[in-house]
This record gives sequence, C-alpha cells and structure tokens, in this order.
Amino acid sequence: MDFRNIALVFHIVSLFILAGGVIGSVIMELTLWKVVTTQPRSAGLLSKAFSRFPMFQTAGGLLMLISGIFLLGSTHWYYWGQSWLTVKLVLYVFLAVHPNLTVKPAGKRLDKLLQIASATKNLELNPLLTEQELIMEMKSIRNRFRIFNIIQISIIVIIFIITIYKPHLF
Ligand code: HEM
Repeated sequence: MDFRNIALVFHIVSLFILAGGVIGSVIMELTLWKVVTTQPRSAGLLSKAFSRFPMFQTAGGLLMLISGIFLLGSTHWYYWGQSWLTVKLVLYVFLAVHPNLTVKPAGKRLDKLLQIASATKNLELNPLLTEQELIMEMKSIRNRFRIFNIIQISIIVIIFIITIYKPHLF
C-alpha cells in the first residue's frame, strides 16, 4: 500500500467517525426530546450521554484534516488552488465553527433547564419557571438542534459530492 492509499484509508475512516458521530447525535437527540417532553426530570442523565457525541465529531474532524493534508501532499499539492478544494475547505471550516455558534450555547441552556426541572419534584411548584415555560423553551432549543443537524448533514453530503466530481466552480 503506498503512502497515498494509507492517507485515503485514514481519510475514509475519519469520514465514518464523523458520520457516526452525527447519526449518533441525531438518534440521541430524538430520544432525548421524547424524554424531555414526557418526563423532563429524568432527562438529565440522557443529556450527559448526549454531550459525549461532539467528541467523536472533533476526533473525526481532526483526523480528516490531517489525512486530507497528507492526501494533498501525496499529489504534490496538485489540487491546491482548484475551486472545488477551496469550496471544500471553506465548508470544512464552517462545519467546525458552526457548533460553537449554535448548539454549544443551546446545549448549555438545555443543561441548565434540565437542572431546574430536576431540582423540584413538582414542576408546577418550581419558583424559577412554570412547566409551560420550561417546555416552551426546551422546544425552541429542540428546533435549533434540528436545524443544526440538517445543516451539518447537508454540508457533509455536499463536501462528499464536490470531492468525487471535483467541479470547476469559478
Ligand atoms: C468533512 C470533511 C471531508 C469530507 C466529507 C471528505 C471526503 C472525502 C472523500 C469521500 C474523498 C475520496 C474521494 C475519492 O477518492 O474520489 C476525499 C478525498 C480527498 N480529500 Fe477529503 N474530505 C473532507 C475533508 C478534507 C480536508 C479538510 C482536506 C484537506 C485538507 C481534504 C482533502 C482531500 C484530498 C486531497 C483528497 C484526494 C482527492 C483525490 O485525489 O481524488 N479533505 N475526501
């Protein structure tokens, strides 16, 4: 196996890790929201497990970047400057930055809400938020997570297609 193939193997493995992380977090999210809306006080534990998934995405993303640089090196930087690669790299940076701007703050807020929800036995007696307010806010966070997941998955698919076809975009 030559150097290029080794880099390609790592590149594809990291795609699996990345995609696995995304699919896992979609499944966890759907489960979490079911629990949040039916028994909010039990959702805390699930939320902790949920918070592990971004680690997979970070690990997969880093391996992707390193193996991608090796792939570029293996072709003596032939692709460097081609429009498909520029678009791919911009999308890749967006993929990495996007969670910090959207779901990370929303995740922190969700953790706080779940703490509030589990702090009192009876949500109606909660001095900080009524049950109605709590559920409304959780629903708005859920929508953010949904939109986020759709955007992340679409970008990964677009990057995939761009890499296969390598179109001259500009
Ligand atoms: C989410 C991010 C990424 C995804 C989904 C992705 C996907 C892929 C796939 C599926 C291939 C195999 C294509 C083929 O063999 O025809 C590939 C190849 C490649 N990728 Fe990535 N990649 C990503 C990030 C990166 C990054 C960050 C770089 C550069 C630093 C990069 C550089 C390359 C190069 C140079 C190739 C070889 C292209 C060829 O010779 O056909 N990729 N990528």
